[in-house]
Order: sequence, then C-alpha cells, then structure tokens
Amino acid sequence: MYQIKVSTTQPTIDIVSSILWDVGACGVSIDQPFDSSEVDYDYLDQKLLMQCTKCDVVVSGFFECIKGVQQNLICEFAKLSENCIWDIGTFDLEICEVKYNWIEDFKKYFVDADYGKVVVVPEWNDSKFDKPTVKLQLAAAFGTGQHQTTRMCIEALQSHLGQKSVVADVGCGSGILGLVALSLGAKFVKFCDIDTQSTSVTQYNLNLNQVDTSLYQVCSSNLLHDDKKKYDLIIANLTASTLIQFADSAKENMHAHSQLIVSGIILDRLDELKAVYKSKMYNLIDTKIADDWALCIFKKDF
Ligand SMILES: C[S@@+](CC[C@H](N)C(=O)[O-])C[C@H]1O[C@@H](n2cnc3c(N)ncnc32)[C@H](O)[C@@H]1O
Repeated sequence: MYQIKVSTTQPTIDIVSSILWDVGACGVSIDQPFDSSEVDYDYLDQKLLMQCTKCDVVVSGFFECIKGVQQNLICEFAKLSENCIWDIGTFDLEICEVKYNWIEDFKKYFVDADYGKVVVVPEWNDSKFDKPTVKLQLAAAFGTGQHQTTRMCIEALQSHLGQKSVVADVGCGSGILGLVALSLGAKFVKFCDIDTQSTSVTQYNLNLNQVDTSLYQVCSSNLLHDDKKKYDLIIANLTASTLIQFADSAKENMHAHSQLIVSGIILDRLDELKAVYKSKMYNLIDTKIADDWALCIFKKDF
C-alpha cells in the first residue's frame, strides 16, 4: 500500500480529497492543526475556514498501485491552481510505502448498526440476522449510518414509513436511507443525488443488496427538479441551506397525506428553517434532536 501526502490549506481539503478519490485512492485521510474530535467539519463556517488559509494541512491518499498516479495528480493540481481564487498551499507531494493495511484498519470503524427493525452492515459482513439487513460498500459517498443525521433518519423511517409507500431519497449519498426504506417494505424508491460518485455508489449498493430493478430508479439531479411525481414519503438529509431551498419545490411532489422528513439541520438554524417551512404552508408534525443536529417531519397544509 502506498500513501501520497499532499500539503495544502484548510479551504482546499475537500477538493484535494476528491481529486485523490478520482485518481484511484482507496482511502483518504486528513491531518490538520485542529483535530476532528474537537470540531465537526460538516458545518465549519466558511468565513472561519477562509481565515485559516495559512494553516498547513496534509491530505493523504492511499493507493494499492501508484503507476501514473503522480502524473495525474500533478495535472489535476495544475488545473486547480489556475482556477482557485484562494491560497491552495504548496501542493508538495510525498510518496511513501506503508506497511499497515489501511483498509483492514478502517474496517474497524465501520461496524454493524442495529436500529431495531433493520440492521445496517458493511459489505464484508456475511453474518445472517433475524431482521431485514442492508449491506453497504465502504466508499467515498456519505452515509454509513454512523452520523447522527443519518441515524435520526433511519429511526424516523422505522416509525413513519407506511408499507408499500413510494419514497424519494433526496441526496442519497450511499443510498442508505432508500435501502432501509426498501428493506422496511417500501414499494418503490427514487434515489437522487447531485453528485455522480454518490449515484454510482448507490447503484453499487442496490446491486450488492440484490434489489429488483423494478423497485427503484437512480438519477443525478438537483433535489427533485423536473420530477412531477407524487411521493408518499420524501426523505432528505442535506444541509439547512439546501433544505430551505427545497421548501419551494418539495410540495409539488407531495399529495394530501405525504410526509416530508428533513435532516441535517444544524441546531443554530432550526428556528429559521421551521419559520421558512411555516411560511410556505407546511405543518410541522415532529422534531427530533441529537447533539447539535435536528430532524423535522412536515406535512403539506391544504
Ligand atoms: C449528508 S449526505 C446524506 C447521505 C445519505 N442520504 C445519508 O443520510 O447518510 C448529503 C448528500 O446530499 C447530496 N446533495 C447535496 N446537495 C444536493 C442537491 N441540491 N440535490 C441532490 N443531492 C444533493 C450530497 O452530494 C450528499 O451525497
């Protein structure tokens, strides 16, 4: 296994990580001055982030084989430095061979999760469970079920999903929520994500779980734009800003009894989000909170 270390700056972490995945990394890790155990990077303030441009960060990609990778990285980084308006750092590359098995080590952190009615397991777990089981690939897409926002969605699906429901999983990531819905008896799930890597991983996970192709559709889309269909349940684990935008269009895809479950709301913005949904004629049915995160369930007001 080889590790390629790239020196960069805080605001460039996501882009460098994504380039490393694109050139074939099987894993990516980030070393930076302040540690992820103290800061939740999902919602790091952009202004604060821009102030940290001087901090040195090392983003590492792990590769089984590095033939041609260095050249590809140099090309990608050259393009990036032409187009980036902020300081992207030195982009020094350091290559070293690592003795430990990164994938095996990482597997320790993605473990089975039993939510009550459904179990979510990593793809390498072949154990048999006495309840519906969803298998997931360990990949770059968000959604192993370990994050609070995903966990709250799974719990909400367990209590609110009706049998034979038609569901939309908006911002599907790994496809975890739609797969859970199917395992709990949904009749059909539309999976959509703006990111093509996520839709590919979702398709992989649907195949992994041997889901019949008549039960789903996977598409690349911004929210449910251009979709005129009505869903019994729409679930969207996004960010507060994107969910606020979604309030404008989600109603078009709801009928009188549809439920809209929105998660990924940082607590600081919960009141703002509720106020926007109220102004757009949604009825708040329930709110769940875990640590700094909230989930809301809405119905359409007629
Ligand atoms: C927090 S992840 C959630 C993944 C998974 N549904 C879960 O609950 O673990 C958010 C996902 O939404 C996608 N996304 C962000 N904005 C979007 C948009 N406007 N339309 C569709 N998908 C979007 C991202 O690419 C990402 O995969």
